[in-house]
Amino acid sequence: MTRDTIIERTRDFVKETLQNAEGGHDWWHIYRVWNNARLIAQTETVDHLTVELAALLHDIADSKFHNGDEEIGPRTAANYLKSIGVEDEVVEHVAQIIRHMSFKSGFDSPGFYSIEMGIVQDADRLDAIGAIGIARAFTYGGFKGREIYNPEIPPNLNMTKEEYKNTTAPSINHFYEKLLLLKDKMNTATGKQLAQQRHQFMQAYLDQFYMECK
Ligand code: ADP
Ligand code: NI
Repeated sequence: MTRDTIIERTRDFVKETLQNAEGGHDWWHIYRVWNNARLIAQTETVDHLTVELAALLHDIADSKFHNGDEEIGPRTAANYLKSIGVEDEVVEHVAQIIRHMSFKSGFDSPGFYSIEMGIVQDADRLDAIGAIGIARAFTYGGFKGREIYNPEIPPNLNMTKEEYKNTTAPSINHFYEKLLLLKDKMNTATGKQLAQQRHQFMQAYLDQFYMECK
């Protein structure tokens, strides 16, 4: 199978699998991450097939929606790629990227890093900030039945991983607990540059939000 056919088939598989996914993790999140990853990869020397496959498969089965099973994502991705005959080295690399990206909130030391992983992680983080990031945070919060904002519940910047996973805090708190911190965690120069503008937009959004709350 050619490289292009592998990517096309994987795209179709992911689109089909995520048909009924929640709005913040649906096919169009994957599509944006895939585009961001391709854009960033243009400025780096990398294995482009690995970047594209990891971007496409990074949320194929999120542990959040599978009783916390952290292996379900890498396993589902690896099984799929093997089934269409992708070479072992690429399959293993993609699985490693997904495995270590799933430690999303930066509580664990990654234990694995490659430039391909750095790119996909940057691409995923870009989709968590800016105008889209704002929409996703409130969509996720709504899905979980959270409040939008409650001035009596301040953000908690010192949460443990368990507390972070189980928080029921208002969606606005998530900006301080995660989203506003992402611009300083970008791995690539292009990622940093793209994050800057999206960060400023979130900041302006929050200024307006509090102005309207007064
Ligand atoms: P991703 O799939 O982008 O790696 P997550 O699975 O952690 O990241 O989160 C998916 C989306 O839901 C992100 O846009 C994130 O900001 C949002 N989200 C995650 N946790 C919360 C929360 N506690 N409150 C509001 N939004 C959240
Ligand atoms: Ni994602």
